[in-house]
Amino acid sequence: DKKIIIAIDGFSSTGKSTLAKQLAKHLGYVFIDTGAMYRAIAFFSMQKGYINNDFFDKESLIKSLPTIRLQFKFNAELGFAEMYLNGENVEKQIRSFEVSGFVSKVAEITEVRTKLVEQQQEMGKDKGIVMDGRDIGTVVFPEAELKIFMTASAQTRAQRRYDELLQKGDTVTFEEVFNNVVERDYIDTHRSNSPLAKADDAVEIDNSNLTRAEQFDLVLEVVNEIL
Ligand code: C5P
Repeated sequence: DKKIIIAIDGFSSTGKSTLAKQLAKHLGYVFIDTGAMYRAIAFFSMQKGYINNDFFDKESLIKSLPTIRLQFKFNAELGFAEMYLNGENVEKQIRSFEVSGFVSKVAEITEVRTKLVEQQQEMGKDKGIVMDGRDIGTVVFPEAELKIFMTASAQTRAQRRYDELLQKGDTVTFEEVFNNVVERDYIDTHRSNSPLAKADDAVEIDNSNLTRAEQFDLVLEVVNEIL
């Protein structure tokens, strides 16, 4: 039985994790949402007071990196793994709009990326993994057997994220969500270390006008050609 690595990259709120979860479930693979890891570091920085709207003490964050332990623990009820920061389940906290506001600044730091990329590569060493993020096909697993790059219009993506946040009871306006999506895309594509980019050999999917089911069928065809 051939096991492969599937790398899914793309802009914010393109539904990367949704697709990755569907694929992992279908194939019996492990699903890893690397955004959760960067979000956990951003949450840690907020808790420690290293980052707020006015300043960012990068040096203190870098110094405390060795004390940060990130783990994914599978939750059978939910059917996917949840993020643990130093033993505490932070899955809910890391999805807040506040964390979304800081995460791209934290993800720019080279020392942060080095630590997380190393952990991600370790998780994929036995293959049979679907990993989503920004640099999976370009940096984490440049040898991945399948790379997918997802896009959708900013309007579509902001609307999806806005609906999701409202449903969770977050009080944000559509404009705030739209601005956050655009700002994160800008930082993610312009940073000097591992900027978000489509790998040359990635399959690009614009899902602005695709249902989840249509998108899944499309990707499954590509997967079946490889397996
Ligand atoms: O995927 P998600 O939107 O949760 O990711 C949150 C942020 O984490 C991204 O906007 C990006 O700044 C950062 N990230 C990254 N590299 C990854 C995954 C996420 O820089 N592989």
